[in-house]
Amino acid sequence: MESRFLKENNPFSTPDFSGKYTPRNLYDPVKYILDQPGKKIRYQLTLLGCKLFSDNNQNALDAATAIEIFHNFTLVHDDVMDNADTRRGLDSIHKKWDINTAILSGDVMLILAYEYLLKCPQESLQAVLSNFSKTGREVCEGQQLDMDFESLPSVQMDSYLEMIRKKTAVLLGSALYIGAKCGGASEKDAGHLYEFGVDLGIAFQIRDDILDCYGDKKKVGKLKGGDILQGKKTILYIRAWNCLPPEDQAIFEQLYNSQSETKVNDVMEWFHKCDVKSYALDMEKKLFRKAINSLKKVETSNENTRELFDFAHDLMDRDH
Ligand code: IPE
Ligand code: IPE
Ligand code: MG
Ligand code: MG
Ligand code: MG
Repeated sequence: MESRFLKENNPFSTPDFSGKYTPRNLYDPVKYILDQPGKKIRYQLTLLGCKLFSDNNQNALDAATAIEIFHNFTLVHDDVMDNADTRRGLDSIHKKWDINTAILSGDVMLILAYEYLLKCPQESLQAVLSNFSKTGREVCEGQQLDMDFESLPSVQMDSYLEMIRKKTAVLLGSALYIGAKCGGASEKDAGHLYEFGVDLGIAFQIRDDILDCYGDKKKVGKLKGGDILQGKKTILYIRAWNCLPPEDQAIFEQLYNSQSETKVNDVMEWFHKCDVKSYALDMEKKLFRKAINSLKKVETSNENTRELFDFAHDLMDRDH
């Protein structure tokens, strides 16, 4: 069945960054990336978090916009850091414009995110800003670890999980927490939703690693095998490395750091030998179940919990 949440015409629409928003060379890239058909899952999670505690999600609309803008800001800078020229099937900003444009348009998106967040209901503002700032700091920490890991032979699975918790998962947790707070949730319930979002987010990044290598390029919209080319320590690499005897580890490492033209296919043969894809899929499922346990702790009879369950379920099945 087609996912209700991952369809392209979801409710996000790009705010109007025209008029007083000049110069165009700063804001055109902002419009360019926000107009793209991303999944907008963090936007939707913020609204669903709010809807659990409030009759409608109006109180969370600005926060949801803030979080989606923040997410897109991280992608603009991430593509520079990852040397990734293609995103959502289109040129990334540093490719279409240049690196300086990607830096500054990314920066202004971070500020825009704060401006939208300031429009949250007054009662929730302190909690919202504090959670969002901690999250933003953790995303930077995760991104630094991701880059640091590139030059290590391998990393422990636990270190990898901590890295992806920071670079990706906390933002999904934060979207739910902030949405819930805008809807008037207690700290305890917002906390359970945060935990739900973080475990879901770890599972989400594991699927991202799988899709980078095994996905359909047209659907994923990124260069196939980009992580392999960049020497990223993904779950697939770490699992393969852990499975190999020391003499093979050295050969595998050398290949992974090489510039060989057949690198992606050669690495994928090692992945296949070590059956890394099923290991990663199992890990994704385990985290999904852990996430659902936190969702069940939220004290609400509201049937919208069901919507969040379905949302999570769709994310686990995604192919883009
Ligand atoms: C991509 O996020 C970056 C990760 C944290 C894995 P999404 O897969 O949510 O990207 P879009 O916004 O839908 O394109
Ligand atoms: C992205 O991780 C995490 C953030 C942008 C914070 P990736 O580097 O794996 O994301 P993609 O694959 O480029 O979307
Ligand atoms: Mg990337
Ligand atoms: Mg990255
Ligand atoms: Mg990726």
